[in-house]
Amino acid sequence: MKTSEIFEKRLQRHHDELRWLYMELYENDSMFAELCGQMYEYYLARSQKMKALDQKREKNPAWFRGKDMLGMMLYIDNFAGTIQGLQKKLPYLESCNVNYIHLMPFLDSPEGRSDGGYAVADFRKVRPDLGSMDDLAKLSEECHERGISLCMDFVMNHTSEEHEWARRARQGEGEYMSRYFFYDTYDIPAQYEETVPQVFPTTAPGNFTWLPEIGHYVMTSFYPYQWDLNYRNPRVFNEMMYNFLYLANQGMDIIRIDAVPYIWKELGTQCRNLKQVHTIVRMMRMIGEIVCPGVVLLGEVVMEPEKVVPYFGTVEKPECHMLYNVTTMATTWNCVATRDVRLLKKQMDIVNGLPKEYTFLNYLRCHDDIGWGLDFGTLKTWGMDEVAHKKYLNDYFTGNYPDSVSRGELYNDDPRLGDARFCGTTASMCGVESAGFEQDEKKMQDAIRMDIMLHAYMLTQSGIPMLYSGDEVGQVNDYTYKQEPGKAADSRYIHRGRFNWELAEACDDVKTVSGQIFRALGQLETLRKKEKVFDADADCQVLDAGDDALLCLMRCKGKERMIGLFNFHDMERQAVLAQEGVLKDMLSGKVQDVRAVTLPGHGFVWLKMQ
Ligand code: GLC
Repeated sequence: MKTSEIFEKRLQRHHDELRWLYMELYENDSMFAELCGQMYEYYLARSQKMKALDQKREKNPAWFRGKDMLGMMLYIDNFAGTIQGLQKKLPYLESCNVNYIHLMPFLDSPEGRSDGGYAVADFRKVRPDLGSMDDLAKLSEECHERGISLCMDFVMNHTSEEHEWARRARQGEGEYMSRYFFYDTYDIPAQYEETVPQVFPTTAPGNFTWLPEIGHYVMTSFYPYQWDLNYRNPRVFNEMMYNFLYLANQGMDIIRIDAVPYIWKELGTQCRNLKQVHTIVRMMRMIGEIVCPGVVLLGEVVMEPEKVVPYFGTVEKPECHMLYNVTTMATTWNCVATRDVRLLKKQMDIVNGLPKEYTFLNYLRCHDDIGWGLDFGTLKTWGMDEVAHKKYLNDYFTGNYPDSVSRGELYNDDPRLGDARFCGTTASMCGVESAGFEQDEKKMQDAIRMDIMLHAYMLTQSGIPMLYSGDEVGQVNDYTYKQEPGKAADSRYIHRGRFNWELAEACDDVKTVSGQIFRALGQLETLRKKEKVFDADADCQVLDAGDDALLCLMRCKGKERMIGLFNFHDMERQAVLAQEGVLKDMLSGKVQDVRAVTLPGHGFVWLKMQ
């Protein structure tokens, strides 16, 4: 087939629906025609190699869902200085079994006013100290040769105040002001403030910023230097789609659409998850399928489960390919602090009951804080009040609760709501930091066990496991951000420290903490890639293990079955399973009696049923 025919065929498949949705939002024929024309241009600009990959992936649309997928998210500068530096470190990432790298924001962004790169000043320029678009293309090429996929953020809700559009808007150019939300009096902003919650109530209160030089307020849901884009303006939608396609063409395999629930604003609402957001995401999915069908959309929807799942769309009209399993993540840490897995069982039953095409990205920690978005309705029926329980969790994880081994800091503590969130690395939350500080070997062994157990549990879940760089070697919190003026107020930097290569160099030495964690994760990851029970379409269900401190997951694929048992208590526990038969420990090969599986505090087992 000629390349123009391939494009035409894909366009024809989606044209009517795309046009329909576009007209519903914009009623603008000429802008729609422009969009279609530009889509063709970006298709033409796509490299032959990428086009070939697109065609391969179109034949195997589940390519990204295989059990061999293992992600890691990392900051280029923290990890390797520059993009070229990162390219040299690919063998290390391969030794971590990683074949999906999420490069944290690396586009041009003003230092000190960048929100970790989430305030983009130029969607087509790499931050100069990290390298260039050319370096990125080379990195992507080598990654593809090695079978590694690359992911980047597409920050679509806002631009930096330094973006060209924002600069021109600030100079009073109407065309550019209309790409944002500008108001010359506080009347409308005041009305918004009545219904719109705050993202950063302490570090960036309010949803508007006063610009004295032009006598206007501008909408800034996140930081004051992140100006919300106005997607009611078709120029904004079109241009942002061109940016999306441009970035896809740099060799990206996965595009993370940042803060997507926020992109449509409507007075009198919370300005989150509005139906127009879904229209836009659906259009993006179609635009991607027409121009670059090999690219996967990962939606960042940090919301309660009922709000998250609709971002998958429907089987006929899909939106995102992948979403973060955020409630499961938060619930996991809740269960660590309470030593009680009941809430996690409930949450996992919900997730396991969803169609298997819905692919979740599972994680323990990421670059953001942990917001306690738990099922408080259920907790209430168990006698736990929301505010008091959040306080308990925060006290526990900051190490301010008797016997808590966790270390970390609060984030956006809103005293009005008692709603603080939490920051810290996995290892620090598991007690590696406190045990190291106290030089307590027994505590250290407990901490390592918990860290490995949580990773084993994450690797047992259906979906794509995503490691946070540093976790593979048990890296602890980094407090140096407090000395950097542009970062000091944002405690998320506590878990965004420079990667400690000394730990990585010791990863072969099992006498070290990093060596023990690294080796254990490696064994688990290798098993996961190999064993059929970890296939994306295997069944996963929660079983009862006769103890509220024990989580028991069973995975079945054909005749193969495995059981994962995870002890969330610091004391030894015994599982009581209703299963019959012989169980073999998948790691040690030892045979276990099904009726009496004993787990040390924070221990786990992966058992295969014979
Ligand atoms: C997303 C990012 C977060 C950032 C925010 C604003 O939630 O994960 O780090 O602060 O978007 O762009």
